[in-house]
Amino acid sequence: MSDTSAIVASARRLGLALPAFNIPYLPMVEPVLAALRDSGTFGLVEVARVEWEKFEARSLEAVAEEYRRHDNRLCSRLHLDHVPVIDEDGLRVDFLPIIERALAAGFESVMVDGSRLPFDENVAAARSVVELCGPAGVAVEAELGSVLGHEAGPLPPYEELFRTGTGFTDPADAARFVAAAGVDWLSVAIGNVHGAVAESARKEKKIEARLDLERLSKIYAAAGVPIVLHGGTGIKPDNVRAAVARGIAKINIGTGIRAPYEAALARGPAAARDAAYRATLAEIETLGLGGNAVRLVG
Ligand code: 13P
Repeated sequence: MSDTSAIVASARRLGLALPAFNIPYLPMVEPVLAALRDSGTFGLVEVARVEWEKFEARSLEAVAEEYRRHDNRLCSRLHLDHVPVIDEDGLRVDFLPIIERALAAGFESVMVDGSRLPFDENVAAARSVVELCGPAGVAVEAELGSVLGHEAGPLPPYEELFRTGTGFTDPADAARFVAAAGVDWLSVAIGNVHGAVAESARKEKKIEARLDLERLSKIYAAAGVPIVLHGGTGIKPDNVRAAVARGIAKINIGTGIRAPYEAALARGPAAARDAAYRATLAEIETLGLGGNAVRLVG
């Protein structure tokens, strides 16, 4: 079992979850790590392909290098978030070479996102990444169902999305998917949505999402692996706490730290750094994920 997998497994045993913070701007690495350290919290630092393609993370190698400059091994590990097989603009991505670059750069776990593919192709894509990463001891996350929000077009009205269960993960499919693909962690859609990343919509305030907790319990029982909650910004905190008790072991948080950083940039890099630091602490506090590092790793 990989080091990061062992930490996630111990989080599950203790009924905790790891926050995973996205890095759309390279200078955010330092304040995010400082907030984890100062609050005694273990979390992942992560970057998604969209963040070096459409924001200013520069590259996965640049994030890995910056991460190593500021890392202390007590409070974090480095994770590669969404490497899509079909991206948010509907274009095919040559995903395996990106995963190979991440392994070379020292990422400690990765996500392949085949959620825009039919089921069998999603399984095959995830399986190919497991085959590549397994020998390197690197854990693999995949997504089943569709966590919407990264696409260019408008989201369907949220209440309609929730009522119809559009894109929601099916528990029986989750069992088949994990058995066939052999992934370590599963990202699911249960009412969670991503904050918008399209240029036209990224400044809009994110809606407050809620979670279908019954469905989550069924998915976790069926899949038997730790579950990942994407779109972690702005979900009702009591829903998040209940979700952690029902199988969520990792919570991705992007918009909640990116928006304050971007808003403060006009006042200069020091103000932006401070905004990212404070926002990271605030997310940890709101979600009740603080102070877990010693219990998890210590
Ligand atoms: P939010 O931007 O909604 O927090 O989602 C982040 C995320 O899930 C990245 O994978």
